[in-house]
This record gives sequence, structure tokens and C-alpha cells, in this order.
Amino acid sequence: MIPGWGRNALTPIRHCGKKLHMPTDKEQGKSSKLWGGRFSADLADIALDYSESTQADSEMIAEDVWGSQGHAIMLARCGIIAEEDLREILRGLRRTEDEFAAGRFSLKRELEDVHMNVEAYLREDAGPEFAGKLHTARSRNDQVVTDAKMHLRTRVLDLQEALAQLQAALLERARGHESTVMPGYTHTQHAQPISVAFWLSSYVSMYTRDQRRLANAFEIVNQSPLGAAALAGTSFPTDRELSAELLGFDGCHVHALDIIGSRDWVIETLAALAMLMCNLSRLAEEFVLFSTYEYRMIEIDDAYSSGSSIMPQKKNPCIAELSRGNTGAVYGRLMEMLTLMKALPGGYNRDFQQDKPPLWHALNLVERTLVALTAMVRTVTFKTEHMREVVGKNFATATELANYLVSERGLPFRTCHEIVGGLVAGLIAQGKTLDDHDAVRELLAQHGQEMSVEEIASVCDPQACLGRQQSLGSTGPESVTRMLGQLAEQLEADGAVAAGRRERIAAAHEKASAIVDAVLAGRGLADCGL
Ligand code: ARG
Repeated sequence: MIPGWGRNALTPIRHCGKKLHMPTDKEQGKSSKLWGGRFSADLADIALDYSESTQADSEMIAEDVWGSQGHAIMLARCGIIAEEDLREILRGLRRTEDEFAAGRFSLKRELEDVHMNVEAYLREDAGPEFAGKLHTARSRNDQVVTDAKMHLRTRVLDLQEALAQLQAALLERARGHESTVMPGYTHTQHAQPISVAFWLSSYVSMYTRDQRRLANAFEIVNQSPLGAAALAGTSFPTDRELSAELLGFDGCHVHALDIIGSRDWVIETLAALAMLMCNLSRLAEEFVLFSTYEYRMIEIDDAYSSGSSIMPQKKNPCIAELSRGNTGAVYGRLMEMLTLMKALPGGYNRDFQQDKPPLWHALNLVERTLVALTAMVRTVTFKTEHMREVVGKNFATATELANYLVSERGLPFRTCHEIVGGLVAGLIAQGKTLDDHDAVRELLAQHGQEMSVEEIASVCDPQACLGRQQSLGSTGPESVTRMLGQLAEQLEADGAVAAGRRERIAAAHEKASAIVDAVLAGRGLADCGL
């Protein structure tokens, strides 16, 4: 601590709590900007138009006010400003908060960004000296990262919740279909029979990794930059841990220069969103494909389809197609950010301002995609008859027949693969399938393998084949039932972590708000448990 700057030793700033006469900019012949001291002219309209960020910043008004409250409380607690000053600052900030809540606080473009708007309001409301004191030991450079991170962490939690809804919907639709057989594909060709529950739960399993990526992004995001100031920290005896706590951060991002000059937390989040959209687009694609006349395995509800203006018969899977299509926009936003950051020198660069439009855009798109896909999943119907019919027609149980010969005849798998391959070729030549048991029996006999028709019927039956799958993670009904249970548990565990994070943020907001109330009611910080 700098000698003489200790909390008790300090008489912070003279005239505390009193309104001062501050000369106006006009009186001083200066720029009207808050940094006007160095400038002789205001920003040109063209320059303002090009550089102001109020549209993207309007997402962060509540955060800017809360962030300012936390910062002001910390300043007073550390004796950097007087408690009388704190009261005036908090009074003004509370009024900003109320105005915002009542829908009356909108950002003025000429004030460039959310920080200058809130400060300007405070200047008008509480007076310039208090607005001026609030900006002690902080800079817009740490302020903007603080606001954006506070906004982003909640959006990430919202997304996790939306994704959990989709996972829950898929699980719900899977239950009861553990033995409903359908073709499983490799190379988009019939491969082996699987169950509908196995198919649907594969996406739930995939999305648990997206949950993990989002939860990791939250962890990286939720470290406080506040107090890093412009880039070098400050000579004031601040308590960054305290402001971090009041703002619901899990800790401090300690290194001032690093946090001011980094946006990898934005990229990290966008990367998680891009990966999520990739995984969502795959579900969307299967819905498009499986709803075609060629597949006829699912029917997307009319409410999530649209028609053609010329072809009266058409029913198009537009929601699924748009989810697939929007993936490109989210990838684009990730590329935009990676490119924005490439080779930028350390410290703050104004380029950073361009991080918020892509971030907000991607968050909005992913959230809307999740909501739409969830609704579509909830209402889709499965054409189980048709699935059952086609799964028996294209040799999907050939592997199972080879496996049978391995276990019953003691032959090497490669030999059985060869025998069954020959059998399939023979059946194709005769225009028959594994359902034609007499033909199968004859062709097998030609390959030196005698099997009864009953044996063949049971081995080649897709339903029975499904029932025999027993390895860990397989499509067998027992395995799928176990996985559905595990996936539901994982979903619950992810939900508990996210809910705990939400609660900690809400508790910090309540705590900060209670301190504001107490100070406004005339109590001292010492009475507030600080
Ligand atoms: N609008 C700016 C941003 O989003 C806020 C920080 C401005 N800092 C500065 N030194 N001009 O990055």
C-alpha cells in the first residue's frame, strides 16, 4: 500500500458530498467530450457515425450500472472516495437503473458508448463532480470487458438451458422406442439395425460435449477484469477482489495488460457456439433427409413445415433447413473474431469494439435455433412401420449372420464375412433379400454352411438382431435404457452446475443492491458487513 493512501489515513478528496461549481465546456472553450481537456474540437459527425457503438452496447446497460455500483462501493470501502460521495453516486446510479427498468433510458449516439451514456446521465443527475469521482481507478478499457463478460456469462447460461431443453425433448421422444427398429447408416447406406431411441440419444450424447464446452466458456469468461484500468493497473489502493465479488465474478483475471488486450474469451465462446451449431446442423440434416419420400421415416409436424407457392403438394422442412443454414453465419462470426484479433499488438485496440456485434449475433442465432429445433423434435412423428419394413430389405443383418457363423461354427470372422458376402451377391442376383429364407438356406448350403430356415429367420430378423446387441454403448435395448438413464443424470448434473452459477450471480446482485439500499438509507459501509 502506498504510504498515506491507507483507508484510515486518507482524506480522500476535499469538498466531498458538496456540489461544486464546475466551469462549463463553453466557458472553457473546449470540446464537450468527457475527455475534452486535450481536445479543441468535437468528433466530426462522420467520425462519430463510424465509431459509435451504442447499438451493440445497448445490450449492456444494466451491466454497466451494476458494474459502476460495485466499483463505487469498492472505491469507498478502500477510502479512495468518501462515503458521502458514494451516496451521491449511488443515488444517481439507482435513478439510471430505475429509468432503464421503466424503458426510459436509451443510449444517445453522440455519447458514443454505454459507458459515456451512463456517466453523462450521472453528471446531469448527481452532478459532474460525483460522475467524475466514479471514474477513479477505472478506464473504459476494463469497463467494457467487465460489462461484456457480465452480459455474456448470463447468455451462456441461457444457452445451456435452451440446449438442455433440446436434450430433454430428445430423451423424452427416445423413451419407449428402445426396441423400435430402424436402419442405421454408414456412408448413408443401410448398415445395421438400430433403435429409434439409440438414434435420438446419440444426439443427446453429442450435446453433452457442447454443454461441457459452454460450461468451460463460462469459466473462462467469469473472471473479473475490473480494476485493470487502462492497461497498467492503478496507483490507488483498490480491492479488485471486492469488486469482483460484488459483480458475481468467480475471481479476478489478475494480469491487467493481458485482460485489457485479450478477447480470446469471446473467441472461446464463439468456438463453442460454432461447434454446437455444427452438431445441431447434423440433427437438422437427418430430419430433412428422413422426412423425404425416399426415406419416409419421420413426419415433421405441419406447424414446423411450410408449403410451396406453386406446387400444391409440397411440404418443406424449412425449420430444419434454416437451422442447417444458420450454421454458416455462426462459423462466419467465429472467423470474423479470429481475424479481428490476428496479430493485434498488446493493450487495448479500438478494433476490439467490433467483438460485440458478432458475439451478440451468434448468441441470438444459436438460441433461436435451439428453441425452434426443440419445438420440432417435440412434435415429430416416427413412421415405425416403414422403418421396420425397410430395415429388413437391404441386408442390414448380414453382419449378424456372419457373427452367428463365427460363434456357432467356430470359423474366423474373415471367412464368415466372405461367405455372407457371397450369399448377399447371390441374393442380389436373384432379386431377393435376407427375408427370403429358403433362398438364403440354399445359397448358404452352396457355401458349405447348413442352416435351418428357423435358424436363418431368427438370426436375420432385425428385431431379434437388435435384441442381441450387448456391448457397452451398443444399440441393444438394455444398453440403450442404461444410456438414457445416464444421459438424463448427466443432464441433471449439468443443470445443477448451471443453476448454482446463476444463483451465485443473483446473490451477488442482491448483495450489491442491498448495499446500495443501505447507503441510500444513510447507513455507512461498515454497517453493511464490508
Ligand atoms: N466502445 C469501446 C469498446 O467497445 C469501449 C472502450 C473504449 N476505450 C477507448 N479507449 N476508446 O471497446
